[in-house]
Amino acid sequence: SKRAVCGPLVGAVDQGTSSTRFLVFNSKTAELLSHHQVEIKQEFPREGWVEQDPKEILHSVYECIEKTCEKLGQLNIDISNIKAIGVSNQRETTVVWDKITGEPLYNAVLWLDLRTQSTVESLSKRIPGNNNFVKSKTGLPLSTYFSAVKLHWLLDNVRKVQKAVEDKRALFGTIDSWLIWSLTGGVSGGVHCTDVTNASRTMLFNIHSLEWDKQLCDFFGIPMEILPNVRSSSEIYGLMKAGALEGVPISGCLGDQSAALVGQMCFQIGQAKNTYGTGCFLLCNTGHKCVFSDHGLLTTVAYKLGRDKPVYYALEGSVAIAGAVVRWLRDNLGIIKTSEEIEKLAKEVGTSYGCYFVPAFSGLYAPYWEPSARGIICGLTQFTNKCHIAFAALEAVCFQTREILDAMNRDCGIPLSHLQVDGGMTSNKILMQLQADILCIPVVKPSMPETTALGAAMVAGAAEGVNVWSLEPEDLSTVTMERFEPQINAEESEIRYSTWKKAVMKSMGWVT
Ligand code: G3P
Repeated sequence: SKRAVCGPLVGAVDQGTSSTRFLVFNSKTAELLSHHQVEIKQEFPREGWVEQDPKEILHSVYECIEKTCEKLGQLNIDISNIKAIGVSNQRETTVVWDKITGEPLYNAVLWLDLRTQSTVESLSKRIPGNNNFVKSKTGLPLSTYFSAVKLHWLLDNVRKVQKAVEDKRALFGTIDSWLIWSLTGGVSGGVHCTDVTNASRTMLFNIHSLEWDKQLCDFFGIPMEILPNVRSSSEIYGLMKAGALEGVPISGCLGDQSAALVGQMCFQIGQAKNTYGTGCFLLCNTGHKCVFSDHGLLTTVAYKLGRDKPVYYALEGSVAIAGAVVRWLRDNLGIIKTSEEIEKLAKEVGTSYGCYFVPAFSGLYAPYWEPSARGIICGLTQFTNKCHIAFAALEAVCFQTREILDAMNRDCGIPLSHLQVDGGMTSNKILMQLQADILCIPVVKPSMPETTALGAAMVAGAAEGVNVWSLEPEDLSTVTMERFEPQINAEESEIRYSTWKKAVMKSMGWVT
């Protein structure tokens, strides 16, 4: 079949915790033309440890690019129309590799990995001056979540990493850096860089000066020469070195949550989005101002769309476990065969029947930052069955979002009138309705759910020297939205929410 192509195209790599995707968009209409997705394995070598193979991640990117290009060919779309590629990625996940051989020196240590809990405890006793030292520079609480402590662990525990640092062969990067270095040539000339959004998640980056911070690097014992160059989120970093898209510039880079913020067109102060992926992340644009939270939220770099463009910041509520709880029901309990099946189970009962599920598998993130918490399922009776547990798992995602929305409203002063959502789980209609019921405000979802990839494509296409995408909001005014209105009364919602909070209290202090 013939298909007319009207104008330049832009590709986006979306390397998330659970899967890798490559998607190609029309830069004039933002229409998604083709994509391919590959699930990524996770390894759990010990309780609380979560790793991935950096090589598998890289190969999955190549595979997705090749397959997407094949599909475009079948649609009679010429891949030479692809003018740029953007990268968005799971943030904080830490890789160290050898720049001479291109080999990773250890598995990638994932953002939700808990091995650094004792490191965090001992470091927090050594914080110089006052407890605000790390937070005031980075916007982040000292937590296992961020890269600095993972890198500290690798330097302390992995002989190969120590040796490579001594021999001046080691490079550190989050997944964006690892991919861009590899895709632009690796051992034969790869570009070692990251963007401001990813850098802001390492705990080594000063979000005011937009530079690596010497004092933080000393505090965490990180040699500065292994760090990547920090660039804006929208500029040409280098060219694809191999594969079907050889020679195409990589010109966009955003941590996946920033990418979703851009893809949802949240360019104005006060605009916010919530993305339901492996975890769940609510970001609110605070403009050029760093707003510090009094309620457990993070201050983070939202984006910087060009070398000479100003930086934008966001307040972020991070929830570690959202889609991951569905994967756990599938892989660990086996009560569903596919992730989609959870909706059917939940629909059968339409209530958790008093069962509450706090999926604190990696401790609790915002607003609690409590590493001692562990998952619990409570309120069980003889009547409880797998459908109620499935329902409680979905409700947990919604309650966790309510907690961060409440914190956001308190910090910002002006409550959100509705919630813009995206991410894989938003195709679950029960979840979306539950979310509106539990928040007591409408939930609004774009018809094209791949907003993370869209954001990465937009910034790549808009980069200087590419200029095939205009970021003016009216360009996307054709995007249609689906709306979920609250259907239960606020009083009933409050009762359920306060029982959830009781369950959260029970999950805390489980490990000491
Ligand atoms: O901070 C972690 C986040 O970037 C992971 O995103 O989409 O894999 O849940 P996701």
